Amino acid sequence: MNVLVIGSGGREHALVWKLSQSPLVTEIFVAPGNGGMEQMQGVTCVPVKADDIIGLVKLAREKQVGLVVPGPEAALTLGIADAMEAAGIPCFGPGRYCAQLEGSKAFAKGVMEKSGVPTAACAVFENADEAKDFIRKMKRSLVIKADGLAAGKGVIVCHSEQEALDAVDLIMNQQAFGTAGSTVVVEEFLKGEEVSLLCLCDGEHAVPLPSAQDHKAAYDNDEGPNTGGMGAYSPAPILPDAELEKMTDIVIRPVLKYLASKGHPFTGILYAGLMMTSDGPRVLEYNVRFGDPECQPLLSRLESDLCAIMLAAVKGELDPAMVQFTPRSAVGVVITAAGYPGSYEKGMPIEGIAAAEGLPDLVVFHSGTKRDGDTILANGGRILCVTALGEDLASARDKAYEGVARITMPGSRFRKDIGMKGIARLEQLKNAAKA
Ligand code: AMP
Ligand code: GLY
Repeated sequence: MNVLVIGSGGREHALVWKLSQSPLVTEIFVAPGNGGMEQMQGVTCVPVKADDIIGLVKLAREKQVGLVVPGPEAALTLGIADAMEAAGIPCFGPGRYCAQLEGSKAFAKGVMEKSGVPTAACAVFENADEAKDFIRKMKRSLVIKADGLAAGKGVIVCHSEQEALDAVDLIMNQQAFGTAGSTVVVEEFLKGEEVSLLCLCDGEHAVPLPSAQDHKAAYDNDEGPNTGGMGAYSPAPILPDAELEKMTDIVIRPVLKYLASKGHPFTGILYAGLMMTSDGPRVLEYNVRFGDPECQPLLSRLESDLCAIMLAAVKGELDPAMVQFTPRSAVGVVITAAGYPGSYEKGMPIEGIAAAEGLPDLVVFHSGTKRDGDTILANGGRILCVTALGEDLASARDKAYEGVARITMPGSRFRKDIGMKGIARLEQLKNAAKA
């Protein structure tokens, strides 16, 4: 069968890489894809934008695809799954109604409240003055969030009243995130370690993937501005395999049940961004797709046929026995351009990718790259995600960084502490067991 993958990042490269291993797959089309995918056998990049719903349906029809896999959230919130359904083409992703879980933080908060999912206390405002009055009364650390999609930038953590008032001005009055900031969510600040729980969903059933942890801050020790994600690893010891089912019961299954009761069963990946607080887990956000870069280490660990899993999910026939992961750990380290997440240059040549991939169990997933003959050039902020498997987290980490060391690009940058929180937690657990 032919498959259409939508998107152009490292997540989509990992999806294409895993789908291409399936005996069910004949040819993969990617809209629009990147330099890494272009180099793959049986993969064709097509210059259709990832949010061009009409163009994507036309492409899926032309290429007679049997499965569509949207990577980024924009296409989903614009209704790509509804459009494909109307065209009779199976699509692994939720429709527009369910995609509001990611597209509107106020909608997500409402669903969490109605389905009893633990989350930060919050208030929603459509008026800046009312939001500010509320902030003045609260006298505590708060998080101010633009309601709509803001490329991961619409969340401002505020440790003083003035910061919170300024955040409301930035989002609502200066409209820094456009109409995404017409509504704001003011939320209590939660302390703890973050972890991602992604579940495969078929409308009724949820099958959890192993846990993963992202690194959103630009610099080591979680300092600096927020980014799309500087690296990820799986499993994250803060959410071990033995607790996945219980966590899915708390933060995923009640939501699936609620959405189905509204006549909108959820198909695809439901991703809960969790804060593990001293009072238990709290959902910070839902995403309705794989995370980038969590997808890269997660799919590196998947041993089963991803195409078969996705087709079963679309049919409402997901079976946990179909979803097997290696017990080995995976670590993905993102290499970025010098100025990212601020402004950065493009067009620098990248060398050493093949040398890195000469290491066993290591794949270099491309994000912002393009091909120029035999050369790969930088073409974005996040450029590569060097992803390695190892017997444990420490060895996967060592191998990923060995791969990173083989790659050179003028001005390239990466975090040096990807996976360290997990390694520290494993040490703690080992010492506690000894004591
Ligand atoms: P979100 O897009 O909602 O996941 O927020 C982006 C980042 O902001 C999260 O990964 C957290 O690091 C931080 N964040 C969001 N909400 C809260 C909260 N209520 N308390 C503390 N940090 C938060
Ligand atoms: N890695 C976080 C995200 O994809 O939103």
